[in-house]
Amino acid sequence: MDISAIAALAPVIPVLTVDRVADAVPLARALVKGGLPVLEITFRTAAALEALGAIACEVPEAVVGAGTVLDEAQVRQAMAAGARFGVSPGCTPALARAVKEAGLPFLPGVQTVSEAMVLRELGFGLLKFFPADAAGGTAWLKAATAPLAGLRFCPTGGVGLGTAPAYLALPNVACVGGSWVAPREAVAAGDWSRIERLAAAAAELKRA
Ligand code: 3PG
Repeated sequence: MDISAIAALAPVIPVLTVDRVADAVPLARALVKGGLPVLEITFRTAAALEALGAIACEVPEAVVGAGTVLDEAQVRQAMAAGARFGVSPGCTPALARAVKEAGLPFLPGVQTVSEAMVLRELGFGLLKFFPADAAGGTAWLKAATAPLAGLRFCPTGGVGLGTAPAYLALPNVACVGGSWVAPREAVAAGDWSRIERLAAAAAELKRA
């Protein structure tokens, strides 16, 4: 599956920061059960790599990827752990080259029109718009529609259930990303039914 096909699976990609490996599988199962099969495990905790591997092995219904992928070494680690895609907050030429060479479906981050143009030249058609809320939100995406025709975005950063519909209504938005579907306190408490309910509400969101 390429990154566009993965983004088409659900309106929301949960951005997950996992502190305990033991939480990974029940968390993934709750999100998938709620209707969100595409999961991003951020590479920001010591548990992240093992958590990703556990989901890849034990939750085959999930399409699990690695987030906060910053360099080539992390691309290799993510793929070895079973990541089906990767996400980065921004991008560098070395990272773009590494994901292309490795054949990892990838969602590189951009915040400006020039960054989007560089990635377009490198062959990326779907970009993470990050940090979406702080960088101009729906106004930026609307303004970018005509000049960046053909590019689509996954706005992430400060997006919640209240603001997601306005993003998803835009023709150049493929899906949104966000951590709101898996609040850290709910994960810490093992409150999987709350997470399943949050996922179900997010899975109902309509796209343009
Ligand atoms: C991130 O990389 O932290 C994501 O952008 C999630 O942002 P959020 O916590 O504001 O949803």
